[in-house]
Amino acid sequence: MEVIISKTYEEMSRAAALDVAEVLNATPDAVIGMATGSTPLGLYQELVRMHKKEGLDFSQVTTFNLDEYVGLPVTHSQSYHYFMHENFFKHVNIPPQNIHIPSGTTSNYRAFCDWYEQRIKECGGIDVQILGIGSDGHIAFNEPASSLSSRTRLKTLAKSTIDDNARFFKSRDEVPIYAITMGVGTILEARKILLLANGRKKAEAVAAAVEGPVTSMITASALQMHADSAVYVDDDAASKLQMREYYDWVQQKKPDAPKL
Ligand code: GLP
Repeated sequence: MEVIISKTYEEMSRAAALDVAEVLNATPDAVIGMATGSTPLGLYQELVRMHKKEGLDFSQVTTFNLDEYVGLPVTHSQSYHYFMHENFFKHVNIPPQNIHIPSGTTSNYRAFCDWYEQRIKECGGIDVQILGIGSDGHIAFNEPASSLSSRTRLKTLAKSTIDDNARFFKSRDEVPIYAITMGVGTILEARKILLLANGRKKAEAVAAAVEGPVTSMITASALQMHADSAVYVDDDAASKLQMREYYDWVQQKKPDAPKL
């Protein structure tokens, strides 16, 4: 795994956005796996800026979001549908028919999940997957003890995740208990994975994911099994990494490294 440590959240977001833009420039019809949460907001703002000021084109892009709360209508201000439209989709030129977000209101979850998996395959698989990380080390809504081969499915949220996400709702009781989420196995099939984390609250989870054993107790640790994953962190989120000096050294020496 490549670990890229930035001084600030803004720098981290910009570095990750440049990585996504590089994929888009090489593959204009790329399939992007999108994440929600406060972490990727800066990355989305930077991509929107590149679209508006530098002509970064999304007209051939297809997207698949990682997850959605069960039971929230798409118009609910905390639904991931709403989040994505407000923070990203309405600011760029992705054709609406190319946007996929799991349904939190389907009448048949199993059939929907099978269709979602099928649709990712039909679109040629995900070229670059953006991820955040939960404070318990989860990716998407793959809570601790999720199978590392899991596919898109309905998941019961951990109490700690409900607590973490309560800040976005009027009260804790309003936080949905269930979600529909891509599985760890689904995520690992993406050709390239970018995980972003910022802030002191994520430091333990980041250290466990990057340097701990591969375990279903920290589903982000499964990225250690992926051949092309990068972890973008700010100083605070990097504060528990034991190999920090090495990661910085690698980045410092990168410009002079033999070209691949
Ligand atoms: C939720 C989402 C995850 C996200 C996590 C962290 O659990 N399902 O995809 O990574 O929140 O959110 P935040 O970035 O707000 O800390």
